[in-house]
Amino acid sequence: MKNIVILISGRGSNMEAVVRAARSEGWPARVAAVISNKPDAAGLAFAQAHGIATAVVPSKEFPDRASFDAALQREIDRFAPDLVVLAGFMRILTAPFVAHYEGRMLNIHPSLLPAHPGLDTHRKCLEAGEGEHGATVHFVTAELDHGPMVAQARVPVLPGDTEATLAARVLLEEHKLYPYAVRLFVEDRLSIEQGDVRIAQPA
Ligand code: GRF
Repeated sequence: MKNIVILISGRGSNMEAVVRAARSEGWPARVAAVISNKPDAAGLAFAQAHGIATAVVPSKEFPDRASFDAALQREIDRFAPDLVVLAGFMRILTAPFVAHYEGRMLNIHPSLLPAHPGLDTHRKCLEAGEGEHGATVHFVTAELDHGPMVAQARVPVLPGDTEATLAARVLLEEHKLYPYAVRLFVEDRLSIEQGDVRIAQPA
């Protein structure tokens, strides 16, 4: 049984999608803990209601990124994670933290990377007049919103779309994409070869 630790900062709907899929699909893994850098993250209530351990490492109370990341790492490692899942975790991570979880930390980003790294992806997509948008799950590397890509989901940009309508359309896809990608990891079907992710057939 693999241990998954999920990091959130807010709503936690992607965390919820992973928790629900892990349980309903009988993965060889369990969500061992949900950890937030914000005490008021809405997603913590869902985790508690589902009997999942929660913890808060309040980023505001640390003087710098290095001390926060060190405390966060200690908290995560209490749960002996095989995989760390970033689900709307709004922090830039230090290189030592990223290196510690190399090959075992995933992120979901609401754009078709390499397009639109960083914030405000839906607005950037609309402003660029693109016909397509989406989400990407990737392994986390030291460079923000880069790293070997596991999977992408695409949605059309429709006439009259606003940031809100586009974000909602992408989010629906995220809730399928992230459980799919995490499941590939816990089933040992992912490998990274020369910077590219390979997906093995099911055993
Ligand atoms: C999602 O759009 C995710 O791609 C991005 O932040 C948002 C988090 O939403 N990184 P939620 O907290 O999972 O509901």
